[in-house]
Amino acid sequence: MQTLKEFDDNAQKVLLNLEKTQKEFWNIDRNTANFLNMLIKIHNSKNALEIGTSNGYSGIWLADALKHTSGKLTTIEFWDKRQSIARENFSMCKLENFIETKLGSALLILDEMGSEIKQGLREPFDFIFIDANKLEYIEYFHKIDPLLITGGLIAADNTISHAKKVEPYLKALAEHPSYQNQMLNFEAGLFVSLKI
Ligand SMILES: C[S@@+](CC[C@H](N)C(=O)[O-])C[C@H]1O[C@@H](n2cnc3c(N)ncnc32)[C@H](O)[C@@H]1O
Repeated sequence: MQTLKEFDDNAQKVLLNLEKTQKEFWNIDRNTANFLNMLIKIHNSKNALEIGTSNGYSGIWLADALKHTSGKLTTIEFWDKRQSIARENFSMCKLENFIETKLGSALLILDEMGSEIKQGLREPFDFIFIDANKLEYIEYFHKIDPLLITGGLIAADNTISHAKKVEPYLKALAEHPSYQNQMLNFEAGLFVSLKI
């Protein structure tokens, strides 16, 4: 198990507390979180998107890395109670200035973001983490592909634990000429795709 040495004492306490309710809030495990944090730093991502905030556990790890790259995170959740808990957790970790929280259906919000990007009101993304409704992964992909720069990364969680549900997503990426992919054998399976 990874340590939490990346974080100050206060943020470590928040993360340790959140790990007690990991199953209830469907959070990623600590090893996956640590890997995503490293991936953002290695890739030097600046403008990241998360689909599926829950209580903010993964968002804390993503935003911490984006603090290092002088980047920012936008994270989408449709369950208002979960979003408020996430916002509290982000501010307890002093990460609120690196995070924009969006409340609503990811499919609708991705359409809105697409229009904003087209109008030059929002920058395209260079890193996208998918961790919401497994049956919708394929629809997320169709909507995020135009929002992701060449050289950008997509990481999708639960691609081993929910292999059947995400099969159309995995097939679309595997057959797509513009994506290089690798399945990583973390607890739930993380499918990482580079847009080339
Ligand atoms: C697996 S949890 C996310 C866990 C979080 N990424 C973490 O590791 O801390 C998935 C979340 O996505 C939300 N969700 C599912 N489908 C959604 C949709 N279509 N639009 C917005 N949020 C959605 C659920 O309410 C849930 O809180």
